[in-house]
Amino acid sequence: MHSEIEGDRLVALRARAVEAFARVYGHGPSFLVAAPGRVNLIGEHTDYNDGFVLPAAIDRHVLVAVSPREDRRVRLYASDFDEIAAFDLDGIRLDDEHPWSNYERAVAWALQEAHHGLRGMDAVITGDVPIGSGLSSSAAVEVATARCFEATGGFLLDGVERALLCQKAENEFVGMRCGIMDQYVISLGRREHALLIDCRSLESRLVPIPPGLCLVVCDTSKRRGLVDSEYNTRREECETGARLLGVRALRDIGLKEFMLREAELGEVIRKRCRHVVSENRRVLDAVEAAQAGDLARFGSLMRASHLSLRDDYEVSCPELDAMVEAAWRQEGVVGARMTGAGFGGCTVNLVETDAVDEFLRRVPRAYEDATGLVPRIYVCAAEEGVRLID
Ligand code: GLA
Repeated sequence: MHSEIEGDRLVALRARAVEAFARVYGHGPSFLVAAPGRVNLIGEHTDYNDGFVLPAAIDRHVLVAVSPREDRRVRLYASDFDEIAAFDLDGIRLDDEHPWSNYERAVAWALQEAHHGLRGMDAVITGDVPIGSGLSSSAAVEVATARCFEATGGFLLDGVERALLCQKAENEFVGMRCGIMDQYVISLGRREHALLIDCRSLESRLVPIPPGLCLVVCDTSKRRGLVDSEYNTRREECETGARLLGVRALRDIGLKEFMLREAELGEVIRKRCRHVVSENRRVLDAVEAAQAGDLARFGSLMRASHLSLRDDYEVSCPELDAMVEAAWRQEGVVGARMTGAGFGGCTVNLVETDAVDEFLRRVPRAYEDATGLVPRIYVCAAEEGVRLID
């Protein structure tokens, strides 16, 4: 177990987890695992097209306190719900009564499918990743759970392998066809960096967040109702587009070639493909801009990404649009766009540190005036991926 200086928020979460553990199980935990939420800077709906993404792990965490058991029973106490769920490692099934526990069940199932030997455990789960707002609290639970089973089972997964098993857990056990981005960056993110992930080769490159900038996440408070069904529809439309264009995945067609051939596609499929193909280009251009210190270019690529998600991919909503429009008008905002699957949830804003106070004064009010909804704003830093903490 390595020690490190952790932020105040994590120190407070740790105290909460240890206190709950003692209350529920009557003794202290053996170890704690922290898994961050994530925000995506650019590269939306590209991961399941074998494309490129640029997410960062953020300093909001799911924290799990654990002690191993001698038998094959897993007991989980979720402090957010004040509920206990329990299951045996043999014959794992979905639990309709405690749906929150299905992520842990799914990960145990996927690890055993991959022939990892698991031990039972008692655990407390707490955290400050907002639930249901598109910051991947469920992927954080999955990756944290995998790391807990690794520690109790005496094995250590490679970060990419862990991400793949957690994605399999979500795809095949929970039944959500997500891509690899969330589990990957939660497993392998680095403090002060975003990660350029090639979702085909599964290689990644660290991209420093330019100094003097904050990641400001704005939650629209609009819950993401349509997301599951629309997400799957978009995936199918992309698969149809790739088939009609004769490529393995949309990753395999460049923007110039696409523009020559887009007339071959009907309107809807053409728009979906145009988003994915142009978004892949924007991710690579954004990385180049970040490395050249060209923040104006980075910001205009974020804006173009939002417009493409709004007009071509059609996964934005009036609330997300109102939030980015308020941010675009604000001094010191390098770039702003919706982040995650869409249909509500959050926007990501790259804001000059000196301009954050003014942002906090103006953007929420402008948003509230436009929509009547009270937003929640999180000023974040790019954080390490999953880790054991003292
Ligand atoms: C969700 C999925 C990711 C990704 C994004 C959209 O967060 O879990 O895999 O597809 O939507 O970019």
